[in-house]
Amino acid sequence: MAGNSFGTLFKLTTYGESHGIAIGGVIDGCPAGLELNLEAIQHDLDRRKPGQSNIVTQRKESDTVQFLSGIFEGVTTGTPIGFQIVNENQKSRDYSHIKETYRPSHADKTYDDKYGIRDYRGGGRSSARETACRVVAGAIAKQLLNNITIQAYTSSVGNLHLNTTYDQLDLSTTDDTAVRCPDAAMAKEMTHKILEVRKAGDTIGGTVTCVIKNVPAGLGEPVFDKLHADLAKAMLSINAVKGFEYGSGFHGATMNGSAHNDLYNEDGTTQTNLSGGIQGGISNGMDIYFKVAFKPVATVIQPQETINKAGEKLTMQGKGRHDPCVVPRAVPIVESMAALVLADHLLRARTSKI
Ligand SMILES: Cc1cc2nc3c(=O)[nH]c(=O)nc-3n(C[C@H](O)[C@H](O)[C@H](O)COP(=O)(O)O)c2cc1C
Repeated sequence: MAGNSFGTLFKLTTYGESHGIAIGGVIDGCPAGLELNLEAIQHDLDRRKPGQSNIVTQRKESDTVQFLSGIFEGVTTGTPIGFQIVNENQKSRDYSHIKETYRPSHADKTYDDKYGIRDYRGGGRSSARETACRVVAGAIAKQLLNNITIQAYTSSVGNLHLNTTYDQLDLSTTDDTAVRCPDAAMAKEMTHKILEVRKAGDTIGGTVTCVIKNVPAGLGEPVFDKLHADLAKAMLSINAVKGFEYGSGFHGATMNGSAHNDLYNEDGTTQTNLSGGIQGGISNGMDIYFKVAFKPVATVIQPQETINKAGEKLTMQGKGRHDPCVVPRAVPIVESMAALVLADHLLRARTSKI
């Protein structure tokens, strides 16, 4: 299986399956001399971990990260940072029903078609358990970013949408609720909705909005590694993501240029920011903001028609521990992937001129 690495200079490689011994990763290219706040890394892992509230999967994992190399007395040494998270709460028997049978819209059949062999326990490598490794690396990348801040939040669940822009919200309150929506009234409605869906054995989708502030101008490498292209790839690589929109996004396509152009102030900032902080693939110093769409995930605790390996039609009953809505847990994953992109481009920008 190729494609387990992400980044050019700040590069993360991950390994592991949902019900294997451990998941983990290697970060190559983290500069030496970075004093790490290890508690901040664990804090981000705790924001992602299963079992943290009644609106997420009840799998119980401490998700304690163990660093194996690359850090000496709390400071990065410039050598590869190896780490692992031991899987503690596998209940592989829950998954024997998908050994020979394919969950509709999951990755069971495509993995079988491609590799001819599949660790079906807990979804194996296709499980979002892998994203815990991204959160470890992202939390380290965040610490490389100095005063650049990355804040994501739940902006919709099903058809419950926050109709405010990020600058009208107090993003410091995002983690006050399990659903991670920084609007208390909407958070309550979203929570209620997710509980209702869970009770029905169903799942529901939603969106995460992310804003990145204090980005210096000049990050991003035209032509193929435009900053927004790398952000798009980062986000679309997260399990269950079906859409990415930055700046004015699809709404911008309905506008005239005269209304869409971000006019300059004398200090080089712009009066509006429909460009979403990126022009020509390069950051312009304004806020970068984007939205990521997550589907209602595949595993529903209901009977569903499907096929088995032999191509026979049958009815399968979903079981095991699953997220009724992945969006609240996806918030730290989105932030982490954004941090990886920013850290990589911050290092790459140092090579752009003498
Ligand atoms: C945080 C998070 C938790 C997830 N939990 C589940 C889950 O409990 N059940 C499930 O079927 N899919 C879950 N998924 C989604 C699957 O990993 C994903 O749908 C699957 O790998 C197929 O990939 P695709 O949907 O991107 O095509 C989760 C995704 C994320 C981001």
